[in-house]
Amino acid sequence: MSDTRNWKASTEYQKIAEANRQFYAQTADLYEVSENCIHDKVLQAGLETDIDRIVLLLGDQTGSLRALDACGGSGNISVKLLKRDMAVTHTDISAELQKIFRAKCQRASYAPRMVCSEIAHFLAHDDNTYHLITFSSALHHLENIESVLRLAFDRLVPGGMLYTVFDPTLYSRLGLVSRVTSRLEYYVFKVFCQTSDLHKAIGRRLRRTFRVSSEGGSATTINSDNAGVLAEYRAGVGIDDLALVDNLKNIGFEIVWHDRYTEARFSVTRRILKWTGDVTSFKLLIRKPAAK
Ligand SMILES: C[S@@+](CC[C@H](N)C(=O)[O-])C[C@H]1O[C@@H](n2cnc3c(N)ncnc32)[C@H](O)[C@@H]1O
Repeated sequence: MSDTRNWKASTEYQKIAEANRQFYAQTADLYEVSENCIHDKVLQAGLETDIDRIVLLLGDQTGSLRALDACGGSGNISVKLLKRDMAVTHTDISAELQKIFRAKCQRASYAPRMVCSEIAHFLAHDDNTYHLITFSSALHHLENIESVLRLAFDRLVPGGMLYTVFDPTLYSRLGLVSRVTSRLEYYVFKVFCQTSDLHKAIGRRLRRTFRVSSEGGSATTINSDNAGVLAEYRAGVGIDDLALVDNLKNIGFEIVWHDRYTEARFSVTRRILKWTGDVTSFKLLIRKPAAK
């Protein structure tokens, strides 16, 4: 077993984690009412199907499966695991998102374990093991994905699975049409789906531009104007999922699925992106080898 307790977060890692804490302190309610991966019926149906498939793969242990929803936010995945009778630990750096999840649990009489913590710190110090660990729309918020997944490996039981979903593939591998479509889609989303945040977003963008040009480089400290950009650390550039999978194999994971597909916020953009043949998202199901 690797020496997880000695894991030290770099300054950059801590900065990105702190940006996430501050960003969701400002935007938890907006996230809950407008986020696509929570409200899109197709995406929600896909999640339900994936979780059913994972439960089947884990074997018939209804009521005795322990699951960790890492960076669980307002409970998008946790609620689905609780519905399936799993013993759920929900952890997130944002107290505001956890408050939203807590209210959902109270309404449904669910009683998960909830820990408000930075994920690497949590994984390095938690003594429990899990049959399933999930990261939904979370990897691209981490400065060091491999280190966090290495820590997660140690928290899995032999044969336990780790599921990741809603992460972008590398932007640089997209063709011009896909890049322009994705960019335009983002602006349409801000205008029509996050209307209440629109004028603030324009203000943040203008202040960031002004600061960078007056300071002669990118800002080193977190403020309310750059917290979102820092929090969505890899949303713009994406993740090299092919290299990530190689690194996961080196950690010791077996790859059960590595699905690469085309995803978008709106069906019209989904159709355009599919027509280009570019893949924009990936999801993984990886397993810690079963004990011999
Ligand atoms: C896009 S949201 C996804 C939330 C949820 N998993 C979902 O599917 O809706 C990203 C989440 O990651 C959390 N997060 C980001 N960095 C984190 C870190 N270093 N430690 C713990 N949580 C983190 C954020 O607070 C936020 O809840």
